[in-house]
Amino acid sequence: MKHLKRALLPALCAAVLCASLPGCSIAVGNGKRIVRISHAQSETHPEHIGLLAFKEYIEENLGDKYEVQIYPNELLGGSQRAIELTQTGAIDFVVAGTANLETFADVYEVFSMPYLFTSEEAYHAAMEDTEYMNRVYASTDEAGFRVLTWYNAGVRSFYATKPLYTPDDLAGLKMRVQQSPASILMANAFGAAATPLSFGEVYTAIQQGVINGAENNELALTNNKHGEVAKYYSYNMHQMVPDMLIGNLKFLNGLTHEELQIFLEAARLSTEVELGEWDKQVEGAKAIAQNDMGVQFIDVDIQVWKDAVADVQQQMLESNPNIQELYDHIQAYNAQYE
Ligand code: GCU
Repeated sequence: MKHLKRALLPALCAAVLCASLPGCSIAVGNGKRIVRISHAQSETHPEHIGLLAFKEYIEENLGDKYEVQIYPNELLGGSQRAIELTQTGAIDFVVAGTANLETFADVYEVFSMPYLFTSEEAYHAAMEDTEYMNRVYASTDEAGFRVLTWYNAGVRSFYATKPLYTPDDLAGLKMRVQQSPASILMANAFGAAATPLSFGEVYTAIQQGVINGAENNELALTNNKHGEVAKYYSYNMHQMVPDMLIGNLKFLNGLTHEELQIFLEAARLSTEVELGEWDKQVEGAKAIAQNDMGVQFIDVDIQVWKDAVADVQQQMLESNPNIQELYDHIQAYNAQYE
């Protein structure tokens, strides 16, 4: 991995340098504009497969002008760094979870609320309400980037080096959370000692005993190999946090109307592919974690976990009025799928 990062450095430096020069667009020998996308997952992850569909669609329709390059595994940096690169235009797109967007637009804090969605159906329906979500997606325009579409990142639960049955078992445990204020609040509310770290640091931190566990979907156990170092996964299901495909706003605004439509269609297609892949892969990930990695999946009494954080949604609404409207919108979907 280190060697790969070193090999990529010149390309990245060129991109960063280019982004600092007005009017510079990164072109390869054949004169095509290179479109760079960064993400944090492996090449077998549903998001990578969705992005391959994005690349294929762009190149099929605009191949004389654009070449899309996908950089997986945080090769261009962890989510926060990659968002900054997208902000400046050093790269064009990044996939990152909403937790990483909270510092740019605090409306995204809503997704860090524990037990926000009451069913996966409500979650999908709310995220697929594109007309509404497009208004949310415009909230980072001032920061210089815009969300184009969402990807399913499943349901998050806690996992650790020892079994967790109730939130009491989290007492005194250092649990990694995403680097966002609302994620820290959420884990502390469960009684853990929240430890914000970037995603790529989690494996080693658990291995070295710096933290006792983390919280994520099942694919983190397999695709990111966390199941090698944390053998107990408790289905407390506290969050459904979407990932977002984010594009540099100047790049998007610089496209012709027709090109923009094609990029939006490609983004939509990538979501359809990703959602299908997710459903296919999640059961398989569970089987691999259990049978090949020796991870024990624990079915817990979810109500006990819900009770432990019963006040958190209200607290968050009071401290950040900007989430109220989206929160209410999501509640309407919750009611619809009750
Ligand atoms: C999931 C999610 C990522 C996120 C990561 C994390 O893998 O898809 O977007 O960054 O969790 O917990 O950091």
